[in-house]
Amino acid sequence: MRRPVRIAVTGAAGAISYSLLFKIAAGEMMGKDQPVILQLIELPHAMDSLRGVAMELMDCAYPLLHTITLHDNVEDGFNNAHYALLVGAKPRGPGMERSDLLEENAAIFARQGKALNDYANRDVKVLITGNPANTNALIASRNAPDLSPSQFTCLTRLDHNRAKGILANHSGATTRDIGGIMIWGNHSATQYPDLHQATILGKPALSQIDTAWYRDEFIPKVQKRGAEIIEARGLSSAASAAQAIVDQMRDWVLGTEPGEITSMGILSDGSYGITKGIFFSFPVRCNYGRYQIVQDISVNEFGRKRLTETEEELLEEKAVVEHLLPKETEASHQSLSICLRSGVTLYADNTGPDSESKFMTTNRVM
Ligand SMILES: NC(=O)c1ccc[n+]([C@@H]2O[C@H](COP(=O)([O-])OP(=O)(O)OC[C@H]3O[C@@H](n4cnc5c(N)ncnc54)[C@H](O)[C@@H]3O)[C@@H](O)[C@H]2O)c1
Repeated sequence: MRRPVRIAVTGAAGAISYSLLFKIAAGEMMGKDQPVILQLIELPHAMDSLRGVAMELMDCAYPLLHTITLHDNVEDGFNNAHYALLVGAKPRGPGMERSDLLEENAAIFARQGKALNDYANRDVKVLITGNPANTNALIASRNAPDLSPSQFTCLTRLDHNRAKGILANHSGATTRDIGGIMIWGNHSATQYPDLHQATILGKPALSQIDTAWYRDEFIPKVQKRGAEIIEARGLSSAASAAQAIVDQMRDWVLGTEPGEITSMGILSDGSYGITKGIFFSFPVRCNYGRYQIVQDISVNEFGRKRLTETEEELLEEKAVVEHLLPKETEASHQSLSICLRSGVTLYADNTGPDSESKFMTTNRVM
């Protein structure tokens, strides 16, 4: 048996976690041979509810679940964590403006970024789900000066999975027959679900579906799927979000299928002309625990307009929280460069080997 890995989860008594934790403990995220320690974090008033979740986890008698620890603060909860799933966030209350939501979450994610910086394992991989996910990821990453921004990602896999499911349903194919889905931009209604690289049974998807359906129905449906689910269920998507978290982390850690593309919200390194320093969903491939942006995909005029729209929204969100972003991490967030040519990922963010070093050291794992 391998040594257990430590997985910290915030919002652990919430709706998403009620699906997520059981999938992780069953080995769906880290693999069926990887024991896990769950470090569950909640707000103090939700600790009783969290204890109930922990009892249920125990009662499943999962062979891979090594230990469960419960925490009412992130400083303890992130201690030595190899993976941190930041699910908890402040929801939008009645009468709350979008800028209030951004600011209130900024305070939460600034503290969480600092705690990761001070207490987590140096190679921690962080996935931010709590909304607004992209900007929360930026705040957490900017508050962690000793970690690489490449260790932070935000969840856009749910949008990716939604696009795949909706296309499968429309075309009559199974999701196994579909590849090359890409989600660009913000996890919001401005995201761009792009089918230009998508295939159904190995042939271009756009040659098999009606362009008007793609532009007028598919794109808005994926963009507004969250709202459609709330309207139907009276509750927001939780099980599908949990599945997406598992999928995004599993691909990041264990790799994407050969030749397959997935979508992840990551710090922009300027690829595809997207402003550096914002968290943006790109098409990526993962291997050896690292992600690489898939380069040289042609973006047509239709796509470019959508990329710009979602980029502008992220820049506006960034402007609202700019005063809360520490200046000391501005440079590291502007100079992240991901070199892809050889399949080896290099960093220009001071996390690589020291030039004075006599010994070969490996770069920090992304
Ligand atoms: N990125 C995505 O694709 C995506 C998809 C679905 C939901 N979401 C977002 O995920 C978040 C969680 O959704 P949910 O349905 O589980 O919500 P929920 O309200 O059921 O649960 C959230 C939990 O987080 C806890 N919490 C809040 N602030 C916390 C903090 N600072 N530290 C620790 N715990 C904290 C709350 O006590 C609550 O138990 C929401 O922000 C939601 O908008 C994102």
